[in-house]
Amino acid sequence: MKLADNKATLSFSNGSPSIEMPVYSGSVGPDVIDIRKLYGQSGMFTYDPGFLSTASCQSGITFIDGDKGELLYRGYPIEQLASHGDFLDTCYLLLKGDLPNTEESASFHKLVNNHTMVNEQMQFFLRGFRRDAHPMAVLTGLVGALSAFYHDSTDINNPKHREISAIRLIAKMPTLVAMAYKYGVGQPFQYPQNNLSYSGNFLRMMFGVPCEEYKVNPVLERALDRIFILHADHEQNASTSTVRLCGSSGTNPFAAIAAGVACLWGPAHGGANEACLKMLGDIQKMGGIAKVGEFMEQVKDKNSGVKLMGFGHRVYKNYDPRAKLMQETCNEVLAELGLENDPLFQLAKALEKIALEDEYFVSRKLYPNVDFYSGIVLSAIGIPVNLFTGIFSLARTVGWIAQWNEMISDPEYKIGRPRQLYTGATRREIKA
Ligand code: SDX
Repeated sequence: MKLADNKATLSFSNGSPSIEMPVYSGSVGPDVIDIRKLYGQSGMFTYDPGFLSTASCQSGITFIDGDKGELLYRGYPIEQLASHGDFLDTCYLLLKGDLPNTEESASFHKLVNNHTMVNEQMQFFLRGFRRDAHPMAVLTGLVGALSAFYHDSTDINNPKHREISAIRLIAKMPTLVAMAYKYGVGQPFQYPQNNLSYSGNFLRMMFGVPCEEYKVNPVLERALDRIFILHADHEQNASTSTVRLCGSSGTNPFAAIAAGVACLWGPAHGGANEACLKMLGDIQKMGGIAKVGEFMEQVKDKNSGVKLMGFGHRVYKNYDPRAKLMQETCNEVLAELGLENDPLFQLAKALEKIALEDEYFVSRKLYPNVDFYSGIVLSAIGIPVNLFTGIFSLARTVGWIAQWNEMISDPEYKIGRPRQLYTGATRREIKA
């Protein structure tokens, strides 16, 4: 970051001395006012619940221009990455800062493929769960449990350990997500097959059974790979900020990523794809497209607590570029499966059209986000609704670990410890 010519001066109407604060610029996007000395100089904190105007760190990994609806991974537009290379090439880009050449790509694919198995003991860990446990509860436990197996890569100050932990997490998440699914449906776990692609391997571990050969459908394989690319990273969203804050205490990367999985589960965040498909199902039950107007009235009624799930975003005040690519993927998959007239897809498109013309949404700049169409395409691929956020976690693991690694490799990083505005009882004594 570089010092800007501009400076910020904070003055107080009560005559307290004004304070001058430096302004820094990044390579693109808003400048920042450096308030690190504010408390020392003024005895006051800033106040920004939800961090609407707060930059928690500097990062060179992902940039979002919410007004333009632009998403860049290490400078490359998501639209180009969605059709260039595959998810593991995007993982390489996010982790190392540049796209791999042919040799680098081949050796990275081989490296990840050699770490797809998990310790055999993991299957006994699953047995502690009820079969009907939500897969995100299982996944949160499984990812945290990885730190019980890989003591040889938890020295976070060792760059080699950080690299092997990143590879292990990227390689093992598909295996763990598939195990959580198989455990829930009472089928035997499928071991990874290293001759398959990353996404093909996942499809086989999910839907393969020992009684017959599983043939990977290349259209579904490509669609899933693109879905992983679209979900890979997204600046300092809630779960990435969770991973950074958790990791800032010096805990091991597996524990920090488990915290990210737990945060992503929430319906306001990565749980929105599950909530969106449920919402579409509910509207379908109400009477489908004919009832959309009635549903929209509920959404606009503040007291209803009803939101249009898959719509709106803290940063995008334009169309989420991922939603457009997800809609295209939806079209491809539904066509491949002969489901072009999928009622939920038709309903979603009708809902989007109505919302984009409605003043309530237009005035609040609410557009479809990544979660609006993802549930439909995941459902068509055969992924059960309660596993949608597991798919999101699988894809976002590379973003979490790249951001965690960027923080840990910064010699200036400190443990995160926000302050507060205290509004509780002042000191009082217990009456004898
Ligand atoms: C993800 O941060 C990321 O980058 C996240 C993510 C990633 O890749 O990591 O992009 C993934 O989490 C996508 C978002 C998935 N969540 C949903 O689809 C849930 C539905 N969306 C909303 O909950 C909401 O839009 C948020 C949480 C996404 C954003 O909320 P903000 O930024 O806090 O905005 P807000 O709640 O202050 O909304 C502003 C106004 C409010 O109305 P007013 O008080 O001004 O009258 O818009 C309204 C809100 O009530 N509003 C909605 C709405 N989203 C916002 N009204 C109806 N339906 C919605 N979906």
